[in-house]
Amino acid sequence: MKRKKSEALFEKAKDLFPGGVNSPVRAFRSVGGTPIFIQRGDGCRIWDADDNEYIDFCGSWGPLIHGHNNPVIRKRIIEAVELGTTFGAPTELENTLAELILSNHRFIEKIRFVSSGTEAVMSALRLARGFTGKDKIIKFDGCYHGHTDSMLVKAGSGLATFGVSSSAGVPASFAADTLVLPLNDLVILEETLQNSADKIACVIIEPIPANNGLLLQTKKYLQALRNLCTKHGVLLIFDEVISGFRVGFEGAAGVYGIAPDIMTYGKIIGGGMPVGAYGASKAIMSKISPEGDVYQAGTLSGNPVAMSAGIAALRICLQPGFYKQLAVNTRFFINSILQGLPHTHTPFRIHQFGSIFWFSFSDAKSVRTADEIDAAGMPRFNKMYHMLLEKGVYMGPSGYEVGFVSAAHSKEDLQEAAKIYSECLGAVLN
Ligand SMILES: Cc1ncc(COP(=O)(O)O)c(C=O)c1O
Repeated sequence: MKRKKSEALFEKAKDLFPGGVNSPVRAFRSVGGTPIFIQRGDGCRIWDADDNEYIDFCGSWGPLIHGHNNPVIRKRIIEAVELGTTFGAPTELENTLAELILSNHRFIEKIRFVSSGTEAVMSALRLARGFTGKDKIIKFDGCYHGHTDSMLVKAGSGLATFGVSSSAGVPASFAADTLVLPLNDLVILEETLQNSADKIACVIIEPIPANNGLLLQTKKYLQALRNLCTKHGVLLIFDEVISGFRVGFEGAAGVYGIAPDIMTYGKIIGGGMPVGAYGASKAIMSKISPEGDVYQAGTLSGNPVAMSAGIAALRICLQPGFYKQLAVNTRFFINSILQGLPHTHTPFRIHQFGSIFWFSFSDAKSVRTADEIDAAGMPRFNKMYHMLLEKGVYMGPSGYEVGFVSAAHSKEDLQEAAKIYSECLGAVLN
């Protein structure tokens, strides 16, 4: 494959943007080499600047559950653009998207639209602090919640210590208000809540952690987390920026049947346009300005073009059997990869939840904490990644990222891609 145009564009981009990109993981630092520049996408396929074609399992990191350039979503976007792109005043479209979500959702009664997942999380944390009158937050090692200051925190030394910032520019005093705990450990969680619940506003978790491998938690653990939060008067935030509208219309909360206090959304909710949201009960949401005293605002919040895309995308998600079919297709895809693999003694597994999948180069049946990820397997992933690109398959450029199957991947597309995966995996596992 020739990638001369992508290489030239990256050279130019390096003069324009830090590291040549507008979001770090796009720079291919993890897998090495030069990022490919995308020119267009259609269905499950994308074409790069040199006209090379790829079957895409990145899906813009999750939003594109209906694939690229979906004709219904495109039509709604164009119709909205023709009426004007932004007003900074309320539109009926905001009501329509909110009603569509709230009337099909058991766990939230009111919602507020913002423009990204980070903004949703930042606002949800402020809401939790405002509602409880407490300052500290618990997050989990291995979960990502966007780049708001209080989430750019890693565990200090010791198991339940106050966090230290994981990015320059985050004041130590901010990081000290975030406690970082290991996933899947109820003893430490209970101990921490017992000792400090009077200072802790909320616990935030990705109920399906999908930003550092796919660290699936048990329902038992999530239910115990819910119970402990209730017992100690601490709010529970499910960050469903990835899992929301991906594993089911009500996200992980719906699949597990566990009600968080606040939920955050991004990605799919905007149908490929920049949208985020947070929602909760009427009582909690009444703390938000102008009804309440927790301030939160946005020039482009509820943007009509983005709302139109979101309405179109979520209406398709609501079609009967949509999520079941997507999960069945993903299982078919994974089974096809495994069937095509040559026999190997190198440990390897493909983990799945609905249409999310992740390659783990270890034979552990379940990987539930960040520590359990076998970093030694990453060179194999990196080698496989470049082989996949050569053969026309694209996915997020890091072995710690998950892949997404969309409704635009037909059985034939999945079979074609599975054959390529089997070949490339076979080559790196032997
Ligand atoms: C669980 C989770 N929360 C928050 C975010 C931040 O969203 P955004 O990148 O739209 O700011 C992400 C992004 O990947 C995410 O996966």
